[in-house]
Amino acid sequence: MRRAGILFISAFVAALILVSCSKVKRKPGWEFAPQMYEPIAYNPDQPNPVFADGRTAQLPPEGTVRAKDQFYFPFNAHDSSFTAAGQAFTTNPLAGEKGALAEGRALYLAYCSHCHGETGQGDGGVVVNGNYPAPPPKFNDATGLRARTGGPITEYTPGMIYHTITYGYNVMGPHASLVTPEERWKITLYVQELQKL
Ligand code: HEC
Repeated sequence: MRRAGILFISAFVAALILVSCSKVKRKPGWEFAPQMYEPIAYNPDQPNPVFADGRTAQLPPEGTVRAKDQFYFPFNAHDSSFTAAGQAFTTNPLAGEKGALAEGRALYLAYCSHCHGETGQGDGGVVVNGNYPAPPPKFNDATGLRARTGGPITEYTPGMIYHTITYGYNVMGPHASLVTPEERWKITLYVQELQKL
């Protein structure tokens, strides 16, 4: 009698295991407390009948929050990326934005002028004492040809300036951890002004 019982239980367990290995992959089988991982609220990626476009994740209304990818900069530190960034950004995304140039100037004075000089003449305090290994270029030098582009620095596009601020160049260190992408574009805007001097 006891043997029959054990046999019955083993058969039952074996049947359970077989049933749990169902071939229908889309059905997870028996779920324990599904309300713990299936929220009542809509998930961001779920279809949603409430909104006109049928999506749950909605974009912020026009003019409220700056779209994040405005400063999307998919370029690494390599020279080829410097060139690609220069071609991708021939205009500054903050061009014409109110107050951006003034903020760019303030940031430039704080982060760049001690080397590049207040007006971008390569005569910052660090350089003029004579101990600096290589003086920075004048941003308005239309004659000297830069090794990186083969052209003068006055022809550097905003993307090239931004790339230099982000990753540095030779003795100039990278500034990505010091200034945010938005601040870098503001500084770039001011350097663009210094190119015209
Ligand atoms: C520690 C000094 C130092 C600081 C700080 C510095 N730079 Fe430079 N920068 C240099 C030097 C030196 C060069 C020239 C490097 C070379 O030609 O080998 C240079 C080069 C450049 C170039 C030209 C790159 C090229 O391809 O020739 C740009 C543009 C530039 N800097 C912008 C900036 C801006 C904007 C800032 C502030 C965010 C800044 N730099 C901060 C020293 C500095």
